[in-house]
Amino acid sequence: MEEIRRPDNMERISTPELAQAFIDKEIAAVREQVGDKKVLLALSGGVDSSVVAALLIKAIGKQLTCVHVNHGLLRKGEPEQVIEVFRNQMDANLIYVDAVDRFLDKLAGVSDPETKRKIIGNEFIEVFAEEARKLDDIHFLAQGTIWPDILESEHGIKAHHNAGGLPDDLSFELVEPVKILFKDEVRVVGKALGLPDNMVYRQPFPGPGLGVRCIGAITRDRLEAVRESDAILREEFAACGLAGKVWQYFTIVPDIRSTGIKNGERCFEWPVILRAVNTIDAMSAEIEEIPYPVLKKITNRILTEVNGVNRVLYDLSPKPCGTIEWE
Ligand code: XMP
Repeated sequence: MEEIRRPDNMERISTPELAQAFIDKEIAAVREQVGDKKVLLALSGGVDSSVVAALLIKAIGKQLTCVHVNHGLLRKGEPEQVIEVFRNQMDANLIYVDAVDRFLDKLAGVSDPETKRKIIGNEFIEVFAEEARKLDDIHFLAQGTIWPDILESEHGIKAHHNAGGLPDDLSFELVEPVKILFKDEVRVVGKALGLPDNMVYRQPFPGPGLGVRCIGAITRDRLEAVRESDAILREEFAACGLAGKVWQYFTIVPDIRSTGIKNGERCFEWPVILRAVNTIDAMSAEIEEIPYPVLKKITNRILTEVNGVNRVLYDLSPKPCGTIEWE
C-alpha cells in the first residue's frame, strides 16, 4: 500500500466544519480500503482508539469488531463508559474481556517497575491475540496511530510498532484513519463524531495505567485505594475548574504505612500522594499551585472515603528532578 503522509500545507483541523470534511473523506477512504471485509480494533477507551472506533463505526458499522480488555488497571468508571458509549449508544460490535484476575495474578509479588510494565504489555498482547484467534475472517487491524507517532518512529525516538507486536500467525493489513492528525485535531474530530467530552478531552494516561501508581508489588486493596483517590481528585478538579487547566493529575499510593488515629483508635495505614503537573511536552513539568481550600477538601474526602488511608501529601517536585509518574 502506498505510504500516506500529512501534506505540508494541510490546514490544522480546528473547527467542526474542517473535522466533518476530514470525517467524510476518511469514511470514503476506509470503505474503499476495506470493502466488505472485517476489521478488528483494540479499544482502550483512550482518545485515539476511541476516535478510530467512532469513525469506523460510521464507515463500516458491524464489519468492525472492537475488543476492550479490562486489565484491572483502568480508572474508576472507564470500562463502564466504553460499554455505554460504544455498545449501547453507537451499537458497535464490542467484545468486553474481563482479564482483571489474569493481570493481577501475573503481577502479584512483582515490585520492579520495568518488569511490571513488561508483564502488563505482554499480557495485553496475549489476551488480545486470544480474542483475535476466536474470530473468523478478520483481514484488517485498525490502530489509533497519529502523526507524532510516525514522526517519532522516523526519528528513532520510539519504536512505533504497528500491530503492537502481535504473534506471526496474526498478520493483518492496517487501517489507520487518523494517522496524519495531530492530537489536538484528533480531539476535534472525536467531538464532531459525537464522543463525550470526558473521553475526548481526557488527560494523558499511561498504558500500564494505575499499575505504575500503586508503587511496588500491586495488591488489590492498595490498587483500590489508588482508583478511589484518583476518582475523588478528578471529581474535585472538575468541580473547581482545574480539570480543564492542569495537564495531568493523579494519585499515587506507595507501599508504606504510618501510624495514625481513627475513631479514637490507633491505625497503621497508607498515605495517598497527590500529583498535579503542567507541561508542554512531558520532558519537563511544573507543579500546579492548587488553592489551599481545594487541597483541604480533597484531603478530607480521601481520608473519609478511601479505605486503608490515613494521610494525604502533595508532591511539590518539578521535573526534573522528579519524573511525572513515580515509577
Ligand atoms: P514521566 O514519568 O517519564 O512521564 O515523567 C512522562 C509522561 O509519560 C507518561 N508515561 C507513560 N505512558 N506508558 C505510557 O504510555 C508508560 O509506561 C509510561 N510511563 C510514563 C506519564 O504519564 C507522563 O504523561
